[in-house]
Amino acid sequence: MATSEGSNLPPFSPTTEFTFTESPNPGWKHGQSVETTPEGQAWMEGEKAGWTVLDTSKEEMRKIYSVLVSGIVPRPVAFVSSISEDGFENLAPFSWFNQACLNPPIITLACLSNSKSAKDTARNIKSTKGFTVNIISEPWIEQANFASIDAPYGISEWPITGLTKAPSVQVKAARVKESAFVLECELYQAVEIKNPQTDAVSSTLILGLVKYIHMRNDVIGPTGGTIDPGKLKAVGRLGGLNYSKVSEGYTLERPAWKDFGDKILESISASNP
Ligand SMILES: Cc1cc2nc3c(=O)[nH]c(=O)nc-3n(C[C@H](O)[C@H](O)[C@H](O)COP(=O)(O)O)c2cc1C
Repeated sequence: MATSEGSNLPPFSPTTEFTFTESPNPGWKHGQSVETTPEGQAWMEGEKAGWTVLDTSKEEMRKIYSVLVSGIVPRPVAFVSSISEDGFENLAPFSWFNQACLNPPIITLACLSNSKSAKDTARNIKSTKGFTVNIISEPWIEQANFASIDAPYGISEWPITGLTKAPSVQVKAARVKESAFVLECELYQAVEIKNPQTDAVSSTLILGLVKYIHMRNDVIGPTGGTIDPGKLKAVGRLGGLNYSKVSEGYTLERPAWKDFGDKILESISASNP
């Protein structure tokens, strides 16, 4: 079993380039079952272990948390800079984060409330509206991880991380100078999430409208229209306290009916003569 425990871990090897390989099964044809490859057969053998099904209304939240954050992987991480009404600046990482939609460009992040209060990030975004989402790169993951410290309200994480403030175009909250990809956002909607059994608010789901995208030119790919993953060296969040690298990938064409439709119809009529 993969483990991050023990003192004999090999040293970190920084991502120097992003490698593209073939996809797992490049010869796959539409309709072909998983068991037709040795890897697919071995995968389906796993079913012999049986299933565990959790009823989330009956389980301990701690267990649901551990299972969900290790099963929904890898997650992108938003490193959020926000500011309170009285000018206190805040930095914290959030991996319940993603792009929600494109038009308009909206991102989501969720801040879990503790038993006493909402997190500073949620409180700040609700009151001052503007915030920045800074994508974390490998060379400064330790700094970003340290910003998750449970500092009391009013204590800024900026000086304790060693990261540098850079001005945003529109919002008051600074962006992180070390981040090569930054979203300058404005609160679109804050949704208070309630536990249906207790009716208690447990989290705030922030929907942020992306107003500006800051891209460091050296991470922009050769065509100018995409970010190069090998240059960005973004980190992924796994379960527990674990992170992952983004250093290898493969391409799969998006199927179009115009290319496959005739063959698909043919195979359907052959199997239903
Ligand atoms: C990589 C990483 C991801 C995290 N993701 C979340 C998250 O999605 N939601 C959340 O409520 N807390 C998350 N945390 C914990 C917060 O960063 C932590 O509670 C932080 O102190 C919140 O800061 P704030 O109160 O200043 O907003 C995460 C921590 C780390 C290290």
